[in-house]
Amino acid sequence: MTREYRHEPFMDFSVPANKEAYEEGLKVINSKLGQEFPLVIGSEKITTDEKIVSINPANKEEVIGSVSKATQDHAEQAMQAALTAFESWKKWDPEHRANILFRAAAIIRRRKYEFSAMLTKEAGKPWKEADADTAEAIDFLEYYARQAIKLKAGQPVVSRDGEINKFNYIPLGVGIVISPFNFPFAIMAGTAAAAFVSGNTVLLKPANSTPIIAAMFVQVMEEAGLPAGVLNYVPGSGAEIGDYLVDHPKTRFVSFTGSREVGCRIYERAAKVHPGQIWLKRVIAEMGGKDTVVVDRDADLELAASSIVYSAFGFSGQKCSAGSRAVIHQDVYDEVLEKAVALTKTLTVGNPEEVGTYMGPVIDQASFNKIMKYIEIGKEEGRLMTGGEGDDSKGYFIQPTIFADVDEKARLMQEEIFGPVVAICKARDFDHMLEIANNTEYGLTGALLSNNREHIERAREEFHVGNFYINRGCTGAIVGYQPFGGFNMSGTDSKAGGPDYLTLHMQAKTTSETL
Ligand code: SER
Repeated sequence: MTREYRHEPFMDFSVPANKEAYEEGLKVINSKLGQEFPLVIGSEKITTDEKIVSINPANKEEVIGSVSKATQDHAEQAMQAALTAFESWKKWDPEHRANILFRAAAIIRRRKYEFSAMLTKEAGKPWKEADADTAEAIDFLEYYARQAIKLKAGQPVVSRDGEINKFNYIPLGVGIVISPFNFPFAIMAGTAAAAFVSGNTVLLKPANSTPIIAAMFVQVMEEAGLPAGVLNYVPGSGAEIGDYLVDHPKTRFVSFTGSREVGCRIYERAAKVHPGQIWLKRVIAEMGGKDTVVVDRDADLELAASSIVYSAFGFSGQKCSAGSRAVIHQDVYDEVLEKAVALTKTLTVGNPEEVGTYMGPVIDQASFNKIMKYIEIGKEEGRLMTGGEGDDSKGYFIQPTIFADVDEKARLMQEEIFGPVVAICKARDFDHMLEIANNTEYGLTGALLSNNREHIERAREEFHVGNFYINRGCTGAIVGYQPFGGFNMSGTDSKAGGPDYLTLHMQAKTTSETL
């Protein structure tokens, strides 16, 4: 019997042994920079001439490594390998599949600092954020393994005299997993593992800015004993192989995490039935957010300010859960704003390889340009309180930026920026606060800071988001504790790290035997 699930603890870097271990991890990764990783298709490792080169966003000159780039032919080859592997993998006892995940989690735990250090180098994650990403990857493996074992028995149904009725879950087929740069380990490993522990086979197309951590995960899975063809590694261009695989008649489902624009495109394309296709594809899509921290009149104002700041600027605001807007009651507006600005001014921005750095760079030039454009819009729409500057001479650095007095309908209050920019808006009363909180097309996370029980209970019902937090910030959902996923344009309401997530990758079969 496996022990009960508990989330992987975060590291305390004020403990010298932990700090030394992280530095050792960075040394290991620095000594391996520039490595090349092949495509993994069935039992073959394929090296192509064309590469995707991964660079350090904190230092554009530094190449982290490169990976082979899949063409449509490779994508087709990977599809065939996954279809073949599915025929045997689908018959595996779910518990045996789960054991591979437990082993993979143990392997990652043993080399934790190396993975975290790679996240620091490849994604620009400060230590704490990198450590949380690795911990979450471990959590997904541990949690989904247990869920797979639980689901093995199916769900109870009633049988009449003289019959035996059963309700069981079986896998779907080949899934395309397209993962994002912002949790390049946790979300990539979690979405892939959920798919294959459920008995499906997978074509993994990681984000092009973070393919190396994904290649490392594929190696771990091989080491853990995952059979060839179950997890195929096919990095490549969205236009070339992404569309091809989404359209493919043998694709059974697509699990996507990323932008709303790409998510909607996948959803539309997957809806079309192609010649030779004998099912309706499923799409699991986790898209954007425009998440709000709401501060009530009688909130703890220190806690309110820190909740705004840490929700907005953790990993430079590049989380779909990021609190990119705050709505503050007019009676405490000035005080909370002042505290938030003062706290933001203490945040250190710089090289994420240094232990004390709070905020590293944003991921690439395109993100940098987009965020800087929003900062210009912010100067029109609000009052710049702090930040507002960017420097892309060495890496993609942007100062944590606060705009105050932003109108509830302004672009800064409505559009996802995915960077270290927070818009602050003043509200008349609690009704007005809830109205603003619900006025976007998204519905991912939200937080309420309040000591008013009636307001807390009302917001619990009326604040329409998938993850609602009370008296804390709106990021940092923990696998198995706060299943994560949003409403409306935030996605398909799938809850990663939750009790019903695996069933999204399965179909239920009823059998009824007359005795
Ligand atoms: N799960 C992360 C969080 O809650 C976002 O993907 O912050």
